[in-house]
Order: sequence, then C-alpha cells, then structure tokens
Amino acid sequence: MKSNVEPLLQVEHISKRFGGLVAVKDISLHIRPGEILGLIGPNGSGKSTVMKLIMGIEKPDSGRVALKGIDVAGWPTHRIARQGIGIVFQHSRPLHRQTMLENIKLALLPDSLLRLVAKPGVDERARAIAERVGLGAVLHRHPPTLPFADLRRLEMAKALGRDPEVVLVDEPFAGLTSAEVAAFSQLIDGFRQDGRAVLLIDHNVKSVAALVDRVLAMYLGEQIAEGSADEVMRNETVRRVYLGGEIETHPRPELDRRAGEPLLDLRGVGVLYGKAQALDAVSLHVHEGEFVSVVGLNGAGKTTLFNAISALVPYSGEIRWNGHSLRGRSAAVIAREGIVHCPETRELFGDMSVRENLDLGGAHLAPKERQRQLEWLFDLFPRLQEREGQAARTLSGGEQQMLAIARALMMRPKLLILDEPTLGLAPVILEQLSSAMGRLRESTPITVLLGEQNVTFALPHADRVYVLEHARIVWEGDPGRFASEMGTGYL
Ligand SMILES: Nc1ncnc2c1ncn2[C@@H]1O[C@H](COP(=O)(O)OP(=O)(O)OP(=O)(O)O)[C@@H](O)[C@H]1O
Ligand SMILES: [Mg+2]
Repeated sequence: MKSNVEPLLQVEHISKRFGGLVAVKDISLHIRPGEILGLIGPNGSGKSTVMKLIMGIEKPDSGRVALKGIDVAGWPTHRIARQGIGIVFQHSRPLHRQTMLENIKLALLPDSLLRLVAKPGVDERARAIAERVGLGAVLHRHPPTLPFADLRRLEMAKALGRDPEVVLVDEPFAGLTSAEVAAFSQLIDGFRQDGRAVLLIDHNVKSVAALVDRVLAMYLGEQIAEGSADEVMRNETVRRVYLGGEIETHPRPELDRRAGEPLLDLRGVGVLYGKAQALDAVSLHVHEGEFVSVVGLNGAGKTTLFNAISALVPYSGEIRWNGHSLRGRSAAVIAREGIVHCPETRELFGDMSVRENLDLGGAHLAPKERQRQLEWLFDLFPRLQEREGQAARTLSGGEQQMLAIARALMMRPKLLILDEPTLGLAPVILEQLSSAMGRLRESTPITVLLGEQNVTFALPHADRVYVLEHARIVWEGDPGRFASEMGTGYL
C-alpha cells in the first residue's frame, strides 16, 4: 500500500514497569502518513500506557519513540506536542465557564510564555476547526449544557488545534450512539486524508476494523498479533483473550409479578433542568427479585432517572420504595435503605487503593461477612485481587469500571442500580460480567435496575425492558418481543 513511504511514527521496543507490574513489554509499531493503526486488547493490557509513553506522559524504561527519525522518548510532553504529536483523551476536561469557542481558542494559543498573545486569525481558525468537528452550531454554549458527544468533539478540536502529524485517539467511541460512532469514524478518516498518522484504541471492534489499515493486539503488555483487521480478529489467541464468545441468555427465575406491591414504584416522575425536560411523566416499577433493563440512547434520560431515585436531583411525581414514599429522604438514607447506585461516572476514591475502596463499600458489614463478600467479589473479578494495593486512579479504564461495580456489590444492595456498566469494557470482560450477573441472580436475592445503550448486554438478563426516548418511556415489554417491536435503531 503505502509501504514505500517512511513511517512518521516509529516506536521500537518500548517497555514500562510500574513497581512489580510490567505494563508494556517490548512493544514496537510504526505508522506512516495517511495510515490508521488500531490498538486492541483486553482491559489492562497496556494500550493506554503505550499512548502515554509516546506522548511523554509516562517515561519509557527503555526503547525508542521516533517522530520523523527524531527520538523523542523521555522528552517532556509539551515538547513532544510541539514536535507534532497530539492526543485525544477519553475523558473530557473542558473549562466549564468558558464557551466552546473559547475552549478551542485556548488550545490554539502558543505554549511559550513569551508568546502569550494570540496571533491574529486565531478566532477564524478556531471556528474552522469547530465547523470541521461538528461544533459550528454550539460555539457560544458552555460545556456543561452540552451532550456527551459534543464534549468528545471538543477534545478532537483541541487536538487538531496544534495541527499534529501524529494523532493518538483513546476510546473515541465509548458511550456514543451508532450514529455518533459513524460521525466520529468519518472525522478520524478525515485525519487520514489529511495525511496524518493515527493510532486508535477502542473496544468497539466492528468500528475499529472498518476504519483501520492495520491492527496490533496486546495482552498482558505484550504484542500477540499484528496484521490486517481480518487477520487479527481471526487469530486464535485474540479470540480467546479479547473477543470471547457470544453473550448467553440466562435462565430467569419464575416470578409472580402481580403478587404484592412492587419494591420500587415510580409514578409520573418528571425532572426539569432549567427549561429542559429531562424526564417526562415516567412511570415504572420493579418487583423484588426482578431484573429490569432501561434501554435508551445517550441523552435519553437514563442517568437522570437513576439520579432521581437516589435523590440526587429534584423531581415531581412520586417514587415509592417498599411501600413508602422516598420524598424528603437524603441520598445517604436512601443508600442505607438498600438502594445502591453504581453511577456512570464511577466516583471512585482515586488516591485510595482497590482494597480500601471495597472496604468502604462494606463498612457496614460485620467483619466475617465483609470477608466473605470480599472473597466472593475477588472470585467474580480476579483482576481486582491482583490489583488490591494499587491506587484506584492508576487502574485502566476497564479495571475502574470493575471496581465501581464491585464496590456497589460490596454494599449488599437490595436494589442495585447499574448505569451503563459496559462502558469501556473489552468484549471478553462483557461476557464475564454477564455471567457474573447470571451467577449473582442465582446465588443472591438481588434486584437489579440496569440502564444500557448496549442491548446485547441488557436483553439476555432482563425479565422486563423499558425503552426511554427523549425523556419518556415509549415501550415496555418482554425482552423476547424487543427485537421485533423496537429493534431498529438499537440492535
Ligand atoms: N501509574 C500506575 N501505577 C501502577 N499500575 C499502573 C499505572 N498505570 C497503569 N497501571 C496498570 O498497568 C496496566 C495497563 O494499564 P492501561 O491503562 O495501559 O490498560 P488499557 O489496555 O488501556 O486498558 P483499558 O482497556 O481498560 O483502558 C493496568 O493493569 C493498570 O492497572
Ligand atoms: Mg485504556
């Protein structure tokens, strides 16, 4: 293909150790101008660390990172950025009080203290970049008022600001709807057409495969396969350690749902954010022992719904729990009553270790019981046991997700609310989490309310499904009927 062109980025034999853990071991890769290399692998396999080593956010212990032949390994990040490498982080950290346009302009400012004054034309360039990433219509809005996908677009815009020759993109598709994934794929394809070299990490295997020229697969810090997307996805080891199998439908205990009052009962619940109606007359119920999935795209109102139940946002209408109204109770009291909410944002204590985060979740249990619960969770998520002493903020994206779920389970909830638990998880971990949910239901009397965009995960467990669209429940029914009645747009 472009094999006669010199690579823009050449990474040779880089390694990185964190204490006793070798996070990246002898990884080599090269990317030519106009080429996209996909980087895949299970959670914690070292993908983000590779990006951080290239960008100088972490210093490699050994190896070479060359940009157009110049070895930049060990340079400070700002020098590497000036040399022509840009990174699009998974997590958006915009300045909330600045408009979108101002946020982009800030990224265009020269980083030298001697040249703090913006060059003329900055405004124009910022607008052009905004237009390109699809933010043209919202330039004067403030980040907190915008949907998730627009904040991701802002990160793309900021990375483009310096016109990097090499762009590193970490999990751009996580949490996006399929239409948004298509739009972002086009954007990234545009980077290729500009002649940039792109390194792309994402667990959305289909979208990665459709976009990339080549794929490199990692496992436990090492390269396990490299080649065309087809070749790599067919690779035996990649299938075993990363792709996993199909998610199975789990047998559900027979419930008599008409009997008695529901455990959780929402009647005509509404939430307003300023003038925007985030939830509109939502009624739903969950019986004891039931697994209820709320399926909805990004921005449909799932998180608002769960926040209302946990008393994190004011609402109209009524929310009843165990026969009494929850109105007027604080979030802490509601959690003590057994409604445990595992939020999309994870809310881990970053400086505390894995074990300390879990112990906090189990603080109300008797020591013996806490120990039993901990053992059960370590059996469910062996990775957490291996990382017991590690600070939560240094865990990989997927490991943090596992910890958030485990901490919620540590509280032994009567009702477990899971908000998008699949975000950022590798396919094989999804499969493991799915069977863990199955086992959870077989071995404990737990009731689950799950919010998901990913129906492949949400349906196999559900006794009942609600579909939330634009703040309203638009469908309720049996998962078996979902595909024929609601499938389009979700499957
Ligand atoms: N500063 C650190 N200290 C200790 N361990 C770390 C540190 N940073 C990363 N690790 C560990 O190194 C391993 C690789 O992490 P990395 O973030 O590169 O994984 P990843 O492949 O990006 O995973 P994911 O798909 O879940 O994002 C993980 O097990 C992580 O816990
Ligand atoms: Mg990562």
